[in-house]
Amino acid sequence: MSGLITVTGGRQLSGEIAVQGAKNSVLPILAATILSGDTCRIRRCPRLCDVASAIEILHHLGCRAQWEGEDLVVDTAEMTRCEIPERLMRKMRSSVIFLGAILGRCGEAQMSYPGGCELGPRPIDLHLTALQTLGTAIEERSGVLHCTAPVLRGADIVLALPSVGATENAILAACCAEGVTTVSNAAREPEICDLQDFLCAMGAEVRGAGSSTVTVRGKQKLHGCDHQVMADRIVAATYLSAAAGTGGDIRLTKVCPQHLTTVTAALQQAGCRITLERQSIRLQSDGQLRGISLVRTAPYPGFPTDAQAVVMASLLRSRGTTVFVENMFENRYRHVAELRRLGADVRCEGRVAVVCGVEQLHGAQVHAADLRGGAALVVAGLQGEGTTQVGTIHHIQRGYADIVGDLTQLGAELRREDT
Ligand code: UD1
Repeated sequence: MSGLITVTGGRQLSGEIAVQGAKNSVLPILAATILSGDTCRIRRCPRLCDVASAIEILHHLGCRAQWEGEDLVVDTAEMTRCEIPERLMRKMRSSVIFLGAILGRCGEAQMSYPGGCELGPRPIDLHLTALQTLGTAIEERSGVLHCTAPVLRGADIVLALPSVGATENAILAACCAEGVTTVSNAAREPEICDLQDFLCAMGAEVRGAGSSTVTVRGKQKLHGCDHQVMADRIVAATYLSAAAGTGGDIRLTKVCPQHLTTVTAALQQAGCRITLERQSIRLQSDGQLRGISLVRTAPYPGFPTDAQAVVMASLLRSRGTTVFVENMFENRYRHVAELRRLGADVRCEGRVAVVCGVEQLHGAQVHAADLRGGAALVVAGLQGEGTTQVGTIHHIQRGYADIVGDLTQLGAELRREDT
C-alpha cells in the first residue's frame, strides 16, 4: 500500500497528545516472545507496518498473535519452524533480531541477510560474531545463513561497536545459554532497557542494560508475561520538532523526558521553551528559531541519528546556520534534496550537512526515501506556504502509527490519500 500525505502549511500547533509505543522497543520484544514458549501480552503495542511484518514472521514460525484493542497477545507455545523466508526478511531490516531468539529456542535457525539498502550498508557481522562467541556455527550457502547451536554456552562477548541490534541479539540468545554471558561495549539505548525489563518479566536474569556491560544468566525455561512498551522517543522528537518549526504550544504525555535530553537541549538552544515533567514534555515556540551549535549524531546518550532529519527540518527557517554531522550511517541525508524542493537551503557533503535558514518555505511535491527522512518532509511541509504532497509514505508508516491523526489533533492541517 502506498499513498500521499497532503500538508497545508502555516498553522501553529497546540494541544496535547499521548506518544505511541516505541517501534525500536517492540520489535525485539516481539522476537523475545519466542523464548517464553507461552503467552505474552504486549500493551501499548503500536500498530505499525514493521509490527505487521514481525507478526507475519511469528505466524510463519507457527506462533499466534492477535490484537486485543491496543494490546498484542502473542502465543509462542506451538512454534513449528525455525527458518524465515527471504520474502519476510526483505520486508524489514530488524527481522535479523529474530535470529538470537530462534537460536535460543530451537538451537538452529535459517534466514537470509535482511534486505535492501536504505541508510547505506547495514552489515550484521557483529550480530554473527556475538552468536558465534556463544557457540553458534554459522554457514552461508547461496545467501542463506544456516546457524546451528545444539548447546549455547555463556561467554564474554566484546562488541567492536555498540550496535543496538547486535546487543539485542546477543542478549536474546544468552537467555537460553548455559552459564553467564557478559556483553561488553553494549549499546546503551533505552530500548535495550525495555527489552531487559520484558525478559526479566518472563523470568530471565538480565542485568546492566543502559550501561556498557550487560550480564545474562541463562535459564532453561522462561514463561509468559504482561508488559507495557516504552514511549517512542523518536516519534516524540518528531512532534516536538514540528511544533518548534511552526511555532505553538504542545504537551506530549506518556513520554520519558530523560530519553530525549539531547533533542530537547537542541530545541531549547534554538529558542524553544521546554518544560519537563515526570512523564510529559511541554514545548512553546514562537516559530522564529535560531541556528544552533554543531549537532553530531552518536550512540545513546548522544544525539540520536533517528532524530537528525526531523530536527533539521525544524531549523529550515531559523536565523543563522546549523551544521549537522551524521556519524552513524553513511546515507542518511536523502531528505536533503527533497527539503531543497521546499525552498530550504541545505547543502551536504559526506557526513556533513549545513542548514542556512531561509525566510520562507513553499509547498512542493516530495518523496519519502526512508522513515525518518519522510517524517522530516512532513515537519517541513507544516511550515511551508501552500500545500506539500509527500509521496511514498509507506516508509513513514513503518514507524508512525498515525502521524496524520496525531498532528491533526495538534491543530495541523494535513490528510492522507490512498493511491
Ligand atoms: C537501531 C535502530 C535504528 C537506529 C540505530 C542507531 C532498531 C530496530 N533500529 O538500528 O532506528 O538508527 O539503531 O541508533 O532498533 N554495524 C556494523 N555491524 C553490525 C551492526 C552494526 O558495522 O553487525 C554498524 C552500522 O552500520 C552502524 C552502527 O553499527 O553504522 C550502528 O548500527 P546499529 O546500532 O546496529 O543499528 P541497528 O540496530 O541496525
